[in-house]
Amino acid sequence: MAPAGHLLPAPLLDVRGLGESGAKPVPSRRRKEVKRRPHADKFDGFWIYKQVFVNSLAAYDLGGRLIDPQLYLDVMANFPSGVVVVTAYGPDGLPRGLTVSAFCAVSLDPPLALACIAKNSNTLPAVQHTNGFTANILATGREQLARRMATKLSDKFDGIAWARTKSGLGGPVMEEDAAAYAVCTLQQTIEAGDHWILIGDVIDGGHLPGVTPMVYSRREYRPL
Ligand SMILES: Cc1cc2nc3c(=O)[nH]c(=O)nc-3n(C[C@H](O)[C@H](O)[C@H](O)COP(=O)(O)O)c2cc1C
Repeated sequence: MAPAGHLLPAPLLDVRGLGESGAKPVPSRRRKEVKRRPHADKFDGFWIYKQVFVNSLAAYDLGGRLIDPQLYLDVMANFPSGVVVVTAYGPDGLPRGLTVSAFCAVSLDPPLALACIAKNSNTLPAVQHTNGFTANILATGREQLARRMATKLSDKFDGIAWARTKSGLGGPVMEEDAAAYAVCTLQQTIEAGDHWILIGDVIDGGHLPGVTPMVYSRREYRPL
C-alpha cells in the first residue's frame, strides 16, 4: 500500500523484453476522481486530491467527452517550448537519443526535471540501462540536428559530437549544440497514456550564457 497522498511505486519501464531487469508490460491504470472527498486533504482552503488508481476501464467513464485528436495536436502545437535532445547509453555503450519538447522543471528542493517519452521510443531501453538521461537544450540554429534526432535512424549519432559526463552518470552531453544541459538520474517513472513520464534527480548541468536556446512553436523552429 502506498503512503497516503503519494503516487503508487513506479513500475519498471515497459521495454518489451529489451531491458535487463526483466520488466514486463504493466496493465494500464486509470485515474478516478473521487466525488465525496474521502481521498482528499484540505490545505490552505484547497482540496488536494490523492490519486486513486483502478484497473477497470469502466470506472473511468468520460462519456466520450474527449477532445478530437487532431484538435488536441493543433492546440498543443501553439504552446512554445524549447527543443531538447534526451540522451542515454544503450547496453552496447553507444549513445541513443531523441528530440523532445515535453521537458520541464519539476522541483527545486530536491532539484527534479521531467521528460515525457512515447512508449514506442527506441531510446527508452537506453534510459533504463543508463538509469538516467541527459537533457540537452538545443541552441538556436540546430534545426537539422533536432530533425535528425526525431528520426528512428540507428546511426543518428554518426558524425555528432558528444561527451561523457565527468561522473559517468546520465547520458551523452552535446556540448557543441546545446545552450544548456541537465544530467539526471532516474528517480521515478509514471505511465501516462501512450507515454512514460521520466522524473529525474538533476545531479549536474551546465549552460553557455552567450548561446541562445531554440524555440519550437506551431510546428516551426524559431530563434528567441
Ligand atoms: C519538435 C519535436 C518534439 C518532439 N517531442 C517529443 C516528446 O516530447 N516526446 C516524445 O516521445 N517524442 C517527441 N518527438 C518525437 C520523437 O523525437 C521521435 O518519435 C523519434 O523518432 C523517437 O526516436 P527514438 O525511437 O530513437 O527514441 C518530438 C519530435 C519533434 C520534431
